[in-house]
Order: sequence, then structure tokens, then C-alpha cells
Amino acid sequence: MKILTLGAAGFIGSHLTHRLLQEGHAVVAVDLTIEKVAEYLDHPNLTFLQQDIRRPEWDLDGLAQDADLVIDLIAYANPGLYLRIPLEVFRLNFTENLKIAEACVRHGKRLIQFSTCEVYGRTAASLPNARVADPEDPIHGTFSEDTSEYILGPVSKHRWIYSCAKQLLERVLHAYGLEQGFNYTIIRPFNFIGPKIDFLPQSKQDIPRVFSFFMDALLNGTPMKLVNGGVSRRCYTYIDDAVECTYRIVQNSGGICDRQIFNIGSPDNEVSIRQMAETMREIYAAQFLDEPAPLPEIVSVPGEEFYGEGYDDSDRRIPNIAKARRLLGWEPRWNFRDALEATMRYYVTESQKNRVSSAAGNG
Ligand SMILES: NC(=O)c1ccc[n+]([C@@H]2O[C@H](COP(=O)([O-])OP(=O)(O)OC[C@H]3O[C@@H](n4cnc5c(N)ncnc54)[C@H](O)[C@@H]3O)[C@@H](O)[C@H]2O)c1
Repeated sequence: MKILTLGAAGFIGSHLTHRLLQEGHAVVAVDLTIEKVAEYLDHPNLTFLQQDIRRPEWDLDGLAQDADLVIDLIAYANPGLYLRIPLEVFRLNFTENLKIAEACVRHGKRLIQFSTCEVYGRTAASLPNARVADPEDPIHGTFSEDTSEYILGPVSKHRWIYSCAKQLLERVLHAYGLEQGFNYTIIRPFNFIGPKIDFLPQSKQDIPRVFSFFMDALLNGTPMKLVNGGVSRRCYTYIDDAVECTYRIVQNSGGICDRQIFNIGSPDNEVSIRQMAETMREIYAAQFLDEPAPLPEIVSVPGEEFYGEGYDDSDRRIPNIAKARRLLGWEPRWNFRDALEATMRYYVTESQKNRVSSAAGNG
């Protein structure tokens, strides 16, 4: 197939691009940045276009018309940005993404749209007036694609603009499907983790995803900051599992994914953010330190102090993956500890390489 992949040089996009090339597809990849796909740029089946999709001159219609399938991963996908530039998050994640979807509608192309598990919001069990017998029962934190209700915070908690923009896009795709027979598949990722997940922060202004903060703290011996005590829980999903599931959706055998929404995640990998920090310290000491050394302390900071005004969070989210199991025969293979260790190994190796090359530069 000829596949137009937008956001191809992001975390998920770079791994997916690699897989698509391995499987023999021709990939036209679009992204603002290039670093995460730099190693594939010479591949004969890859055409890379470094492009800001917000600029009017790019040939969206021509590229969509020429493709057999369009995969859209472009988004601001980082909580620090939802707090700092909520309008830009809305414009990119809804308005610009809608243009891509409408080009697919115009040219009759199938679209795989990356959405988010954040559409589900909070759990009903977390509400102040919740009446549940056992709030710890995983059933209260488990979300299903076609039946779960969505619970988001008030407008003043502007973190939810990301979730709303993605949700609105999903609803518009659904409406195009109903009214015009548009063929789409929506993916809701649940906290993928793996090499290239994010940059390590270089300055106080940089707010990457939580793994990168903790990794940076370990590498530089600074405190590991837990927002609001790190009680929120997440199901971390290794990128290889995620790409395997996504690839089955690309294949779409017998049209099984047409107009479907899929959760992709590892329900058995649930941990609190505090447990994640503690596990990273353990792994770092056991696997990556040549000799025993003091490890960074773990400290709690208020969410609004760390992220700024408007902060809020999902308390817990566990994917129900019955649909992916049933329709795609997919099963996640990676447990949390192995996924974390493989991701950490990548960053430790990269940081050693950087140290060697800057030492060589200075010498
Ligand atoms: N990683 C996860 O666990 C996760 C969870 C939920 C949802 N998602 C969704 O999956 C998709 C991919 O996520 P990711 O983790 O790879 O994020 P990412 O930030 O690594 O990738 C997004 C890519 O889009 C590109 N991009 C942004 N603005 C652009 C523009 N104006 N023009 C061209 N390119 C632009 C970025 O350069 C980046 O490479 C996003 O839609 C995200 O919302 C991811």
C-alpha cells in the first residue's frame, strides 16, 4: 500500500514508520521534525516531507488523493502544553486535524485517526458524591470504546481541552461515517512507553511526559517530582505491542476495523505514578549504575505549582481490550517492568553517547 503518515516523526509515528517500511509499504511521511526518523531517511520506500501542516501551501489534497490509506498522528500530546497553550492545542488537535479528515472524505480514503484514552476523563468512583461499594475494584477504572460514559472537569480546568478536542474530532468522524459512508478507524492509546517517547528537559520551561522527567532526574541526580503525590494510576503499554496492534488495524483484514474505535493498552500493567518512580529507581540502581551511588529523592509537589493554573488529571484508566482481542486477535505481551527497563536502557545509552561525543568535541 501507499500510506500517507502524518506526524510520522513523533514517538508512535517513528516506530510505526519503521514497521510499515519493514512490511514493504511505500510511506509518505509528514512531520515538522525529522530526528526520530533520521535513521530511515535513505530507505527507498520512504518519502519524507518536513512540513508544518498549519501552513496553507502544503498539498494535503494531492497527497491524500495519491494514498491508499492515511494515518493521522499529529497532535500536541503533552499535558504541559494543554495548560500553557490551550488554544493552540484546540486548533491543532481539532481544526487542523479536521482538515485532514475532510480531505479523506473528499477523496474517499480510509483514515486511521489517533485519538486518546483521555476522552474517557475521570472515573465515576473518583467523584465526591460517588456511591460505590468498593472504589478499588478495577471495574470502576475500566473503559470500553462503545459503552463508557465520559466525565470531564469544569471549563476552568483547561487541561480538558485536549480531551474535548479529540472527542469532538471523533464525533465528527462518526457523523461523516453515518451521513456520507466515510471509512475511518479511531485508536485510543493508553500510555505507550518506549524508546524515543520524548525529549529530556533542557530548561525549566520544558515539560515533557512524566517518564522523561524521572529519567532526567536519575541521570542528573535531581529530585523526582511527584505531582500531587503520584496517586494517579496508568496502564503502561510497550510501544512494540502498540505498533503490532496498530499494524493489524492498518491491514484491516476483511474490513473488520471499518468505522470502529479501538482501545490499545495493557490492562495488566496498571501502576501509580509513585510506583513508576520507585520502580525506575530500583531498575536504575540494579541495571545501570556501575557502583552503588545515592539515588534521587522522591518529592511531592502540588499539580498547579508544577503545571500551572488549570491543572487536573484522570485518576485512573484501564483499557478494556476485548474488542482488539476479538476482532484483531491481539494480545499485549510486555509487562510493565520489562517495558520500563527497555525504555530506560535506550535513554541511558543515548546519554552515554552524548557524553562521549561532547567529550570528544571538547578535546
Ligand atoms: N503516546 C501516547 O501514549 C499517546 C496517548 C494518547 C494519545 N496519543 C495520540 O497519539 C498521537 C501520536 O502521539 P505521540 O506520542 O507519537 O506524540 P508526538 O508528540 O511524539 O508526535 C506528534 C508528532 O506530530 C508532529 N507535529 C506537531 N505539530 C505539527 C505540525 N503543525 N505539522 C506537522 N507535524 C506536526 C510533531 O512534530 C510530532 O512528531 C497523537 O495524536 C496523540 O494525541 C498518544
